[in-house]
Parts: sequence; structure tokens; C-alpha cells
Amino acid sequence: MDVQLTEEQRQVRDLCRQFAESELRPNARRWDAEHHFPREAVAKLAEMGLLGVAVPAEWGGAGMDNVSYAVAMEEISRGCAGTGVIMSVNNSLYCDPVLKFGTDAQRKEFLTPFARGEKLGAFALTEPMSGSDAAEMRTTARRRGDVYVLDGSKNYITNGPQADVILVFAMTDREKRHRGISAFLVPTDVKGFTRGKPDEKVGIRASGSCTVFFEGCEIPERYRLGQEGDGFKIAMATLDGGRIGIGAQALGIARAALEEAVAYSKERKAFGQAIAQFQAIQFMLADMATELDAARLLVLRAAALKDQGVRHTAESAMAKLFASEMCERVTSKALQIHGGLGYMKECDVERHWRDSRITEIYEGTSEIQRMVISASVLKD
Ligand code: CAA
Repeated sequence: MDVQLTEEQRQVRDLCRQFAESELRPNARRWDAEHHFPREAVAKLAEMGLLGVAVPAEWGGAGMDNVSYAVAMEEISRGCAGTGVIMSVNNSLYCDPVLKFGTDAQRKEFLTPFARGEKLGAFALTEPMSGSDAAEMRTTARRRGDVYVLDGSKNYITNGPQADVILVFAMTDREKRHRGISAFLVPTDVKGFTRGKPDEKVGIRASGSCTVFFEGCEIPERYRLGQEGDGFKIAMATLDGGRIGIGAQALGIARAALEEAVAYSKERKAFGQAIAQFQAIQFMLADMATELDAARLLVLRAAALKDQGVRHTAESAMAKLFASEMCERVTSKALQIHGGLGYMKECDVERHWRDSRITEIYEGTSEIQRMVISASVLKD
């Protein structure tokens, strides 16, 4: 694997960096405080092709590779982690499965406007009683003639308050357990669909999430993604890609914190010198920079494997596991370096620390990533 980015990938990185610096970083603290969904910034992401990065141009996307997507995700998340996850859900958890498993008619209706950023997508797997054990879902889709009738609820749905269509997983045949799960493209203006109030979250507060409810929600058969019973595999394969996006989000959050820690350590004086002169601080910075680079290599490897069309389940899990736990350590050290100031709302590192925490939870907790990795290790 080439560790150097190509010219095109560097251009994407520079463009996203500029955008994050001018439009995201200056606003991220306010969006966090106000729990504000950044519509203006999301519209600009759309103009830049960042809502369908790896979707071919014929379906409204930017036609770039997954390494570019990871690079873009790091830069956007460095500016605002909440904006990062809005982008990653639309790209990885919505557009990618519609591209991969959809028919051309479904791609036309359910992919092109989403890859262009005219509409926003979401992914609904988690339920109040089934998170990590995704196959235990209670939501059902009962066939009635040429429609399916959906009943149940899904929670913590990122982009849920704003989404135009949600990719929903539901049981079509409970007897078959995970092989009885099917996937449906559910427009949010359909009768019987309602949303709960937006969740009040610890971090990534610029992104909205909520519970969604289905009560006798009729979905035409042509909105089913893949065959009946394919849903669980569609969800798992989708998360293989999604975990790259979250790994890259963690890189962005950690890099923002490291940069702030470096700047502060050069300016803050104690015992007659800048604290950057103390080996205690230098060693913390050295560890932070090393871990961040190691995580980036894992994320880029998983993205490169996805570009090669090679199964990357374990590599994505490793990337997400290491990057998210690295992010928690790095943001915590950055806060420590800032001392009392780091604990104050006026300081961005407290936000990075809060934002880091979810990367160890969503799209599969660290424990689930370890299960996925150990299954691969034991199989080998
Ligand atoms: N790709 C394709 N198929 C896969 C697969 C993959 N990555 N992983 C598993 N499968 C297939 C298996 O081959 C198996 O197929 P067969 O039926 O042919 O045997 C089938 O799926 C079942 O596999 P397992 O026996 O491994 O399934 P399991 O029930 O033991 O669960 C698990 C495995 C890894 C724990 C899974 O349930 C899981 O990933 N849980 C975590 C769920 C998760 O990540 N949720 C995140 C919600 S989305 C979110 O967070 C979005 C957001 O807010 C931003």
C-alpha cells in the first residue's frame, strides 16, 4: 500500500481543510452549545461533492475513491465532528448500500438526489432492546399484497430529525432470526411514520438524532433493498464501510485536540518557561502524535482495501477500534495539558473530549469491534 496520497487525494484534503478552517471551526463551539444542525454547512458540503464522495458521477456523486472519502472525513471532523457524522451517515450508511444493493430504478430515486446532497439519508438498525445484538430486533415488516407493513421503532438515529429517506431493517420472518431480516427504503413523509424529539447528547451536538416510529407504515415492495432475508448481511457489509468513516472522524477530532495542545503548550508558561519545554508535556505530545499516525495508517489501509473491492471486515473494525480509543486518549491528554482551562466551555478541547466518546460506541462499540476482530483472528 502506498502511504503517500495521490495528487487528487491531496487536493481533496486541501479543499476540505480550507473549508473546515473557514466555515466549520469558527462555528463549531456555537453549534455545539445550541445543538444546532448546520444546514448552511451541509449545503456547502453538497456543493463540494462531499455527500456522495465515492458514488459514481452517473448517480450524482463525486466519483472519488474511499481513501479520498477517509481523508475528507478527517478534515471535516477536525473542523466540526458533528458535521463529520452528518456527512459519514449520508455517504457510508445510506448512499453506499443503495449503490451496492439497489436496482437502477432504486438508485435513480433513492441515490442520485442524496449523493448530490439535495436530500439527506439515514440508517436505522438500533432499537431500544437491540443495539449490539442487532439480529434481536423487534421491528416487523409484514407482507400484505404488494406492500410491507412496518411496525416498531428505532432509536439513536443519526440524521433522523432531518432525513428524507431512512434505510430501515425489519423482521420479515422471525423464525429465521438474522436470515429473516430485510432492508427497506422508507421515505419519511409516508403515513404511519413519526419522529420523537431530538436526542440531547453529550457530544457531536451539531448532528441531530432521534427515535423514529413505524405504525402500520405501508411500504411498496419496490422499496425493499435486496432480497427478502438479505437485510442483516446488507447491514453488516454497510457497517464495514461505515466504520472507516467513524475511524476517520476520530482522526479529525484527535488532530484538532493535538494541534490545540501543541499551540497551548508553547504559549503557556509555568516555572519560568513554556510548558512545552517540560519533558512531561513533550512525552505526552510524542505519544499523541504517534498514536494518531498509527490510527491514520489503519484507517487508510481499510479504505484502500475497500477501493480494491477486497473484504475488509476485520481491517475496518481494527481501524475503528484503534482510532476511536486513540481519540479518547489524545483528547483527554490535550485537556490535561490545558489544565483548568481545558475543563472550561470557552476552550475547544473540552468539546473534542466529549465528541471523542461516541466514536467508541456508535457503528459498533469497541467490544463489538473486538468480537469481529477476534472472530477473524481465530478463523485464520
Ligand atoms: N459482511 C457480510 N456478511 C456478514 C458480515 C459482514 N461484515 N458480518 C456477518 N455477516 C454474515 C455472516 O456471514 C452470517 O451469514 P450466514 O447467515 O450466511 O451464516 C451472518 O451475517 C450472521 O453473522 P454472525 O453470526 O457473525 O452474526 P451475529 O448475530 O453473531 O452478530 C455482530 C455479529 C458483529 C455482533 C453484529 O451483530 C454487529 O455488528 N453488531 C453491532 C451492530 C452495530 O454496529 N450497530 C451500529 C448501529 S448504526 C449506528 O451506530 C449509526 C450511527 O449512529 C452513526
